Order: sequence, then C-alpha cells, then structure tokens
Amino acid sequence: MQRIIVATDGSPDANRAVDAAARLAKATGSSLSIVTVGGHISGAELRRLASRDGDLSEAMVSAANKILKQAQKRAVRLGIAAPKLRCGWGDAAETILDAVRAEKADILVVGRRGRGRLTGLLLGSVSQKLASLAPSIVMVVP
Ligand SMILES: Nc1ncnc2c1ncn2[C@@H]1O[C@H](COP(=O)(O)OP(=O)(O)OP(=O)(O)O)[C@@H](O)[C@H]1O
Ligand SMILES: [Mg+2]
Repeated sequence: MQRIIVATDGSPDANRAVDAAARLAKATGSSLSIVTVGGHISGAELRRLASRDGDLSEAMVSAANKILKQAQKRAVRLGIAAPKLRCGWGDAAETILDAVRAEKADILVVGRRGRGRLTGLLLGSVSQKLASLAPSIVMVVP
C-alpha cells in the first residue's frame, strides 16, 4: 500500500490538492494523511483579538484545526473515511518535510500557490522548496 500525504493551508489551491490527493488515494487504495502548519493569522484577526484581549495561541490552534476539519470533510466526501490529521508549527516547508519523513510517505501533494498575496509567482515558496527537497514524489496541483 502506498502512503499519500497532502499539505494544506486552507487556500483554494490547497483545497484542490486535497481533492486530488483523496481521489488518488481512493483509486490506488492508499492511506491519506493531511498536514497543516499553523501559526499564520491575518491582520484583521490580530486586531480583533487585541481589541477583545483574546488569546493568540488559542486562536492559532483553532485556525489550524478549522483548516484540518475542512480538508477532512473534503476527503471524506471523496471516499476516504478516516484520513490521518497532523498539525505542526514552525517553518511551513521544513515542518511538512518532517511530516513526509515521519509518515514515510510515497507521494506528497501540494497546491501550486497558497494563501500568499504576491501575484505573478509561478510557484509559492513553500511548494518550490518542497518540490526541491522532498524525499518523496511531489505532485503539484494547479
Ligand atoms: N502552512 C502551510 N501548511 C500546510 N501546507 C502549506 C502551508 N503553506 C503552504 N502549503 C502548501 O504549499 C502550497 C503552496 O503554497 P505556498 O505557500 O508555497 O504559496 P503562496 O502562499 O502563494 O506563496 P508564499 O507563501 O511564498 O507567499 C499550498 O497550496 C499548500 O499545499
Ligand atoms: Mg504561503
């Protein structure tokens, strides 16, 4: 059995990567793990937290969990009943590479771009680093 892992930051590109990974896992009878690296919070969310004296670490954990839950829902809908969910913290690419090694994944699936705002980039910095450094096959979803 092959092991497939997909990385998501909750962006539309990453959602397509989750769907592609789930379809591939379903078609090949592979296991599916979903990983997100948390710690990114929008300026608007930060201002909201500051005005309410909210807890930043709690907000980051709940944002990461929301991304994982959303991806899990997509995978379940495509026939993967129980994908493994992983959440990490720190540098996105390094943490995803750690997950690929820990899961002994054969294939890593990522989106071409993510939540980054810089238009014009062909590949995001995370997908570029993963395509260059991952020990597994890397599938980049447009
Ligand atoms: N924090 C993250 N957790 C999990 N996967 C991620 C994360 N960030 C990016 N990815 C994966 O990498 C893909 C490409 O995102 P990337 O961050 O490289 O592009 P970007 O956000 O457009 O550019 P940049 O971050 O360099 O400004 C995403 O579709 C997703 O699959
Ligand atoms: Mg990004």
